[in-house]
Amino acid sequence: MRSSNRRRPAVSLTRHLGLVGMMGSGKTTVGHALARRLGRPMIDTDAEIVSAVGLSVAEIFSTHGEAWFRAKESEILSDCLRRESPVVISLGGGAVLAEHNRALLRSWADVVWLRASLATLTLRVGSGSGRPILAGDPVGVLTRLIEVRGPIYTEVATLIVDVDDRPTRSVVAEVVRLMATVRR
Ligand code: S3P
Repeated sequence: MRSSNRRRPAVSLTRHLGLVGMMGSGKTTVGHALARRLGRPMIDTDAEIVSAVGLSVAEIFSTHGEAWFRAKESEILSDCLRRESPVVISLGGGAVLAEHNRALLRSWADVVWLRASLATLTLRVGSGSGRPILAGDPVGVLTRLIEVRGPIYTEVATLIVDVDDRPTRSVVAEVVRLMATVRR
């Protein structure tokens, strides 16, 4: 609504904004809402790969393998980060595993980790369909990945926002509020 928009603090991105976190943490949904709020384009690395390759993520994993997918993911990420004006980027959950991706993010973006508990992730990913990494045992895999990736998300994050039991608009509002406090 117009009147409530007018009361919102003006926020403008000075750098790219990357959203990281586990599968099911809401990066894509929050990314779209955040991009609308900030008046910036939103790029989802998975969607970009799928559209460039013409196969689903699961098909890419089974046809070309994970390493091939990861190389494509790095390519897409570095293309996004080369853009001149700031964009919101929703990164696939494993994109931060590569040190060169983390280095690029550090150089060119502010990074928000959307942190979710195992219970939230389990609920959201369901049987794990469409996410080849989770195949067979979503809860077991998520449990292990939270342990392995937690320190990596911590390392790369400028800000951490907990998403458990929160609607998208509340997560977006917190990201916007915290972004204003980031000092460079
Ligand atoms: C992956 C996360 C997926 C996708 C691929 C691998 C991961 O993206 O990139 O299935 O390793 O965590 P989302 O985090 O958007 O589900």
